[in-house]
Amino acid sequence: MVICFPSTRVGLDPGTANTLLYVRGRGVAVNEPSLVTIRTSTGDIEAVGGEAEAGRGRTPRKFQTARPIRAGIISDLKLFDGMLHRFLRKAHVAGPLHRLQVAIAVPSGMTEVDRLAIIESLRKAGAAEVMLVDQALAAARGAGLPIEDSCGRMVVNIGAGVTEVALISLGNVVCARATRVAGDEMDAAIASHVRAAHQLLIGEPTAERLKIQIGSAFPNREELGLPIKGRCITKGVPREATIRSCEVREALSTPLESILNAIREVLEQAPPELSADLLETGIVLTGGSALLRNLDRFISRNFRLPVKVAQDPLSCVILGLAHQVNHLRRAEWRRFGNGR
Ligand SMILES: Nc1ncnc2c1ncn2[C@@H]1O[C@H](COP(=O)(O)OP(=O)(O)OP(=O)(O)O)[C@@H](O)[C@H]1O
Ligand SMILES: [Mg+2]
Repeated sequence: MVICFPSTRVGLDPGTANTLLYVRGRGVAVNEPSLVTIRTSTGDIEAVGGEAEAGRGRTPRKFQTARPIRAGIISDLKLFDGMLHRFLRKAHVAGPLHRLQVAIAVPSGMTEVDRLAIIESLRKAGAAEVMLVDQALAAARGAGLPIEDSCGRMVVNIGAGVTEVALISLGNVVCARATRVAGDEMDAAIASHVRAAHQLLIGEPTAERLKIQIGSAFPNREELGLPIKGRCITKGVPREATIRSCEVREALSTPLESILNAIREVLEQAPPELSADLLETGIVLTGGSALLRNLDRFISRNFRLPVKVAQDPLSCVILGLAHQVNHLRRAEWRRFGNGR
């Protein structure tokens, strides 16, 4: 007798910094950092997600914290498989009783090899059917844009490892551009400024804190300062310094210029009719880095277009996937012949 288990539909947004998992009928079941702690001697996974985050930059030598995803692409398959398995377990959708249908967001420039790698990984994790969804389209949908209409609309999804700019019309991407400059590059630029200007070495979490707490793309009404601690380059001892917001802004100017260039390239490729629509529809910013203070004003000033930040930029992609998961017909899924 063949027992057929009902399928469980899930949406997966495996981001460079955060992984979100949506389960149909239940909502977002996992929203955790894409991080893994491994035991250095054996390579075994000790912790994932929030638990691994707690030890980021502080793990003793016998443990290492690693990111299985870089620039939206799996950089370490074994770690990704381990992390995914634990997240599925946490969402109570792992194991032989679950026949999964997975809609997964992928960056537009992904190579066929990377696509096959992610599909294989999902298959191993229990997926019987998979659908790859363009990340920018999912973000636009999740931001509430009526992407199926014929009007041109632009979405700029700025995550941690990748910025995707897409011009969308009639439910499709008309032209797009992706760059690896996003939140991580901003953190690296801040860390290198602090090193050069204050002879102080700081880790990724401290650079990110500076960006979130006092960073901005445009001058603030009041200048802020934040005391931070790091290791003095010359003396090798712990030291404190206060970093001013104008310094952080200065450090961010190079990565922000790269993001402007990506937007400019898409605007230059846009068919004139759709380009004209943007005067009305403007640009919508999604992804966690859209939360950088005054980024909307900064982009708007540069292109003289209306720019707005989506309501919950960190969740746009998963909300867009949730829509696909809830509404797509069976025929639109890619099935595996593994009999699950
Ligand atoms: N208030 C804030 N100001 C500036 N940046 C922020 C803020 N909050 C979060 N971020 C940044 O947002 C990024 C994470 O965003 P998100 O979760 O969308 O990325 P991701 O989906 O994991 O990455 P990617 O899509 O590039 O693979 C991090 O770089 C984080 O520092
Ligand atoms: Mg993302």
